[in-house]
Amino acid sequence: MQFKKVFLGRRSIRKYKDKKIPLSVIGEILDLARFSPSAGNLQNWKFLVVTDVNKKNSIAESCFQQYWMTSAPVIIIICNDYSDVKKHYGKLGQMFSIQNCANIAFAIELIAYDLGLSSSWVGAFDNEALHRDFDIPENMDPEIILTLGYADEVKKPSNRNDLKYITFFEKWGEKFAQVPSHLDQFKEFTNIKKHIKKLKKK
Ligand SMILES: Cc1cc2nc3c(=O)[nH]c(=O)nc-3n(C[C@H](O)[C@H](O)[C@H](O)COP(=O)(O)O)c2cc1C
Repeated sequence: MQFKKVFLGRRSIRKYKDKKIPLSVIGEILDLARFSPSAGNLQNWKFLVVTDVNKKNSIAESCFQQYWMTSAPVIIIICNDYSDVKKHYGKLGQMFSIQNCANIAFAIELIAYDLGLSSSWVGAFDNEALHRDFDIPENMDPEIILTLGYADEVKKPSNRNDLKYITFFEKWGEKFAQVPSHLDQFKEFTNIKKHIKKLKKK
């Protein structure tokens, strides 16, 4: 898929079809995602891939009753194996280890979308409950949870703050008027969709 289409098309999906994801596809996603950048190339991520119905229920419970998660055929708990990062980077280590996990989480979302799957990031969970229920070692943290599956809802590209409100030029507060609006990209994306529809009709 064209990169821009993948980037703008990805949405957080919270309703999934009752359709299994082949293990080979999950493998392909994670295999690619591990090429995400990390501080010092320390790659402090570990994946816990969960498909069992009871375990998915227990995760949803630990995510403060986000039961929509159970419709996803796969839930991935990305664990932060922070020891080495903290050893290498001292005070910065904690922040780097989280940034590294965030990198790979978003990579997984984009790669999955490129392969026809959808996902949602879940950051609200009870850390201790996940440690306990999944025997996650004490020296690492569940950092990010991703649901993965075939979307059973359709979403347009989501809205974002305009670039002119979030971008300063050279100096804090100095507006950079020339930056293109995300709305232009949105238009381009919807035009692509219309164009594809037209082509299909022909
Ligand atoms: C750090 C983080 C935590 C999030 N936690 C949750 C969550 O607990 N539950 C949920 O449904 N979505 C969660 N999301 C998804 C956001 O709600 C979503 O990314 C945002 O609304 C933008 O929508 P989009 O992903 O469709 O573009 C989280 C996203 C991030 C980056």
